[in-house]
Amino acid sequence: MSAFHSKIEKNIFILLVLTIIVTSIGAIIQIFPLFKKEIAIERTEQLRMYTPLELQGFFIYKREGCYGCHSQQIRKLTDEVERYGHYSLAVESMYDYPFAWGSKRTGPDLARVGEKYSDDWHVEHLHNPQSLVPESIMPAYPFLLKRNLQIGDIQNKMSALKLSGMPYTKDYIENYKNDLSVQLGINQEASSIEEFRKRYGEKVVIRKFNRKVKYITEMDALVAYLQGLGNKIDLSSNQGRDW
Ligand code: HEC
Repeated sequence: MSAFHSKIEKNIFILLVLTIIVTSIGAIIQIFPLFKKEIAIERTEQLRMYTPLELQGFFIYKREGCYGCHSQQIRKLTDEVERYGHYSLAVESMYDYPFAWGSKRTGPDLARVGEKYSDDWHVEHLHNPQSLVPESIMPAYPFLLKRNLQIGDIQNKMSALKLSGMPYTKDYIENYKNDLSVQLGINQEASSIEEFRKRYGEKVVIRKFNRKVKYITEMDALVAYLQGLGNKIDLSSNQGRDW
């Protein structure tokens, strides 16, 4: 061992300073570039923001703690891709504030559960999971079926999200009520539908999600959110390449 080296190893102060310098260089090279969103996130024009109905669903998902048992991130491992579908891309969670990746899978990953089941299946499953999957340990959420959806706070939520960087413009925020009733199929005026499509794209589905009751419930919002998971961008063109 060189004399220089043994000097460093025996002097705790120099060792500490040099260790900090070396790890900082590593951090600067590896970590800092990722702080720039443009580098860390794949590029796509296709991603759309949550509709007002889905946004309420997203917050109900958070409120009920679904993320405690369900992750929303499919890793690149073969078994995961075979079970759940295309691995998750960073860009797909770009509009999730706070993100819903979760860290534990008591139940399956939900990143691509959208349109895997019918609305009626989800409604029944959330109402009483054991009626469809007898061995399920998922709790039941029957109250969602009856509880009126509160919509008074959507504007505030959208404005707050806008502050944190989401591109909800005035147009989105002011027309939230219109967009909500268009997505549920209540407002069927051609011009309203056209505006809704302009804001949220052609692929958003328009229908009453909870067909068990006539009025608008929290179940409508949660099922709309679940049905939109994982199909906001077209992954078929991404054959094995990293965007
Ligand atoms: C205590 C853990 C737990 C919680 C909390 C929980 N789930 Fe589940 N979930 C499960 C388990 C276990 C399964 C698999 C069995 C089944 O289908 O019921 C499951 C299945 C599902 C499925 C079907 C997934 C698939 O691909 O088959 C959906 C959708 C779902 N849960 C949504 C939710 C939502 C929404 C919430 C919150 C309102 C929630 N879960 C809360 C444990 C949980």
